[in-house]
Amino acid sequence: MSEDYVLELEHIRKEYPGVVALADVTLQLRRGEILGLIGENGAGKSTLIKCCSGAVIPTSGKIKINGKTFDRMTPQLAAENGIAIIYQEFNNVKELSAAENMFLGRPIRKGVVIDRKAMEEEAAKAFAQLNIKINPRELVKNLSVGYQQMIEIAKAIQQNAQVLIMDEPSAPLTNNEVEAMFKVVELLKSKGVSIIYISHRLEEIFRLSDRIEVIRDGEYVDTLITKDATVDELIHLMVGREMTQKFPPREPCVDYSKVVLELKNVCGNGDVDMSFKIHAGEVLGLGGLVGAGRTELAQVIFGSKPKDSGQIFLNGKEVHPKSPREAIDLGIALVPEDRKRHGALLGVSIKNNINMPTYKRISTASVINSTVEKRTAEKYREEIQIKCPTINQLVKNLSGGNQQKVILGKWLAADSQLIIFDEPTRGIDVGAKYEIYKLINDLVAQGRSVLMISSEMEELTGMSDRIIVLAEGHMTGELTKDQFNADTIMAYASAVADKKEVS
Ligand SMILES: Nc1ncnc2c1ncn2[C@@H]1O[C@H](COP(=O)(O)OP(=O)(O)OP(=O)(O)O)[C@@H](O)[C@H]1O
Ligand SMILES: [Mg+2]
Repeated sequence: MSEDYVLELEHIRKEYPGVVALADVTLQLRRGEILGLIGENGAGKSTLIKCCSGAVIPTSGKIKINGKTFDRMTPQLAAENGIAIIYQEFNNVKELSAAENMFLGRPIRKGVVIDRKAMEEEAAKAFAQLNIKINPRELVKNLSVGYQQMIEIAKAIQQNAQVLIMDEPSAPLTNNEVEAMFKVVELLKSKGVSIIYISHRLEEIFRLSDRIEVIRDGEYVDTLITKDATVDELIHLMVGREMTQKFPPREPCVDYSKVVLELKNVCGNGDVDMSFKIHAGEVLGLGGLVGAGRTELAQVIFGSKPKDSGQIFLNGKEVHPKSPREAIDLGIALVPEDRKRHGALLGVSIKNNINMPTYKRISTASVINSTVEKRTAEKYREEIQIKCPTINQLVKNLSGGNQQKVILGKWLAADSQLIIFDEPTRGIDVGAKYEIYKLINDLVAQGRSVLMISSEMEELTGMSDRIIVLAEGHMTGELTKDQFNADTIMAYASAVADKKEVS
């Protein structure tokens, strides 16, 4: 019965040259429900929702809003008919205020002049409706990612959206921000807004959704009622096979006689003071809350942030990496957290991206060895399952998660002795996560060392040989494997720096 649905996508197909992004997907969104949309990296989730907004024109298939069929969806038609999308990378202008961003491209005018005051009032109203405290005049650059996202949601509300589609909204947020976002999503639902929620974190899907639709390789798989579904069932539907283990087994391979990296009283931005060692074959987990200084620490080791004082030793020899180039030459790699800004060259092929750090090594007199280049790229394409038609595909045409895999491949190919991973599996699907963990296991089995920053407790305890916890730029705790415990780690993570004892 069509009238029950606000949005219907029927047999949507989308072809790109050499790629079928969507083969045949059908989706029905009921009025006032939250529909979780899940699938592996490259399954077609983002492409599907872009068809709803007119950002992508499907090759074939039908789109209906409130029972009315639209032959050709456009961004304007979508907006007029109450469809709003929060994309993973929001297109805000950092130098403008919150209110100005809300009315970007459609300012309120009084005659010919822009009516700033009216926009600020409207913005304030929308923020109040969502119970969020943002000053409409605040410049977006001064707001956290969480607030920036709230502005996007408020914009949808101000435009009277009936359908809100969110593409991995929790990925860039801190835990507290995620909680705040959930509250807003639940509030919107209670006001009758229908929501499509995309996430790789199944616990979020379980918490929020009424029904869950699974897609795989551009095909519709199934739709389940959330309260009757299980995690195992969903994983099976997503990856098409059983997955019984989350973490691949690892033979202990730490060589405690061989210290690869040692930090002695390293200070980065004034109050960071760090002393610890990493051994050959060891995965050292770095836990802590967002803002504890973990990324800064990684940057100091990688030479992209200056250190104020202290010493860094690599294989017993003091080193002073002053730039990433120097760090790479020393055998240190950093797989950064913010992959859009620091990671891939989007307009360049997968092959070139993966070989980037090694060009110096595989070239003779500036002539690149194309056989090696191709072999390396193919190897990582296969090992981390980068979903692409060929390794010559431009990175910008890959799905979000697959772009991340290219960056991982790039740093793995660099053949470094110490690899620092900053949130290695954020935005990565369950199946590929397992492959990345296997790669980390391979690295340490070869005697390399891994420093892994992770905010996912399960990943931290599941993969580390030892964990150190940071709070406010200080080390507040160190745990050996037999002491791993989520509560203890959380207690250390929220410990105040000068009060090192955790009760
Ligand atoms: N502009 C494009 N040109 C060519 N191929 C594309 C383009 N956009 C998307 N694709 C391909 O379509 C497929 C589906 O991508 P999509 O971004 O929809 O996946 P996704 O389910 O959102 O994945 P993720 O979880 O990684 O974000 C991928 O194989 C991707 O490489
Ligand atoms: Mg996507």
